[in-house]
Amino acid sequence: MAHISMRQIHIFDSVARYESHTQAAQKLHMTQPAVSMQMKQLEKNLDIELFERHGKKLSLSNAGQQLREYSKEIMQGYENMMDFVDKIKGCHTGHLTITVATTANHFTTRILSAFSKKYPDVTISLDVTNRRRILEQLENYEPDIVIMGEPPKGHGLKSERFMPNPLAIIASPDHLLRDKKSLKLKEIQNEKFVVREKGSGTREAIEKHFAEAGLEYETTLEMNSNEAIKHAVSAGFGLGIVSLHTVELELDNDHLTTLNVEGFPLQRHWHLVTRHGKAMSPVAEEFRNFVLEEADKYVSFDR
Ligand code: PGA
Repeated sequence: MAHISMRQIHIFDSVARYESHTQAAQKLHMTQPAVSMQMKQLEKNLDIELFERHGKKLSLSNAGQQLREYSKEIMQGYENMMDFVDKIKGCHTGHLTITVATTANHFTTRILSAFSKKYPDVTISLDVTNRRRILEQLENYEPDIVIMGEPPKGHGLKSERFMPNPLAIIASPDHLLRDKKSLKLKEIQNEKFVVREKGSGTREAIEKHFAEAGLEYETTLEMNSNEAIKHAVSAGFGLGIVSLHTVELELDNDHLTTLNVEGFPLQRHWHLVTRHGKAMSPVAEEFRNFVLEEADKYVSFDR
């Protein structure tokens, strides 16, 4: 019988996912040569070619693709087993793998800091990315738990709504429309907008809102960070539409202002999302309860 280790399967699963030794190495906190050596060893032990190498580009061979299906199942089974071990130990130690939407990160770090004070032995990995990438991660059973906008129905996801996420139109404090009492959406459609990247939940919600009103909007800049949008808007690049979670300080300090446009703040909600079929570890369960009970203590807008 060929001798292969759990570690090799883990590394293979990661290299296969990213089709890159470098990215897998980053994810696994290993060096790139160590990853590459392990994969050569695995191919040797199994006596099949798992990868095709075209210059610097790596892709899975046919056999590699089929093996990936097994490695996914093995990794899933392994994680479920470790979660079970944590559960029977009934302790508050363990590891929490959490992914949050870019926008949710503005309050999540505060929640995590409080959670970690309560459970100092829990270690946490936090990934911050946009909605599209989060859905891919859930598809691959990567995170234990996710904070994002409402997920699409019918993808084997379980979601629990826990807090409002109002989107507001922001402008620089000297904007001409600042003091208008109530603006119609079509009165701002000729303004220029600074927007989030495609794949962002905020962007998706804005596009849907304008489309439902039969209107379009013009963008001047597209950025993948709320911080960058705030800077661009206060520098006069145009209007922005962002979650109020991201601009608490700037509104208080009058570095930015919100416009009174009908339909805004646009009401979205934050959801805790998990994937059916991925066992909830006691730590993930604890975090879920913590968020459901305490999250609103860590946000402070009341506009
Ligand atoms: P995002 O936020 O725009 O940072 O992806 C997620 C969401 O509102 O769904």
